[in-house]
Amino acid sequence: MKIRMKDKNERISEVLALAPVVPVLQFDDPDTAVQTSQALVRGGLPVIEITLRTPQALDCISAVAREVEGAVVGAGTVMTPAMMSDCVAIGCQFLVSPGATTELIDANKKFDVPLLPGVATPSEAMALMAEGYEFLKFFPAEQAGGSNYLKSLAPVLQGLKFCPTGGLTAEKAPQYLALDNVICVGGSWVAPKDLIAAQDWDGITALAATATALGQ
Ligand code: 3PG
Repeated sequence: MKIRMKDKNERISEVLALAPVVPVLQFDDPDTAVQTSQALVRGGLPVIEITLRTPQALDCISAVAREVEGAVVGAGTVMTPAMMSDCVAIGCQFLVSPGATTELIDANKKFDVPLLPGVATPSEAMALMAEGYEFLKFFPAEQAGGSNYLKSLAPVLQGLKFCPTGGLTAEKAPQYLALDNVICVGGSWVAPKDLIAAQDWDGITALAATATALGQ
């Protein structure tokens, strides 16, 4: 069966529309991943991105997919076709990359799991538009120009929606969420490392609830 870009655009738009904030997380052990994700889901953030930056990342993703009811779990920092295959094999529902290589874009054509590739310039965005992408990550959002930069892309890159990620906080997120070309934002601030280390699950749920309210 031919995998259509239109279907993948639809799928990623459904996922990204579930909540205003996608928590971007990194874990060393599956139990912590499960408990943190449960706390986030309780706070209203079901879309969870776990980055492939630790040796245990795939185990953590599998555990969350298996054990956290209501979670939609994806992989972040997907850099190579091999990493993409591994993530698809364990049931990731979406894939996020900080940028896009020809190899990565070609590899994703073989899978029906949508990729949200990162861009920071109009030329990068145009190259992905030519491949049929309608949803992109804007990364690193704050460092690359912030919400004003992203706003200035809207009239020229019509039809594109972004998930800005990188350097965002609860205070900065509303500036992005107010833009017509933003579908949601991503960030680690909803599950800070110190709260995870302290196993302060209620604290994480409270941060998630505040983030959830940004979409109302
Ligand atoms: C990342 O690189 O981990 C994500 O873009 C999240 O960035 P943040 O920690 O600045 O929210």
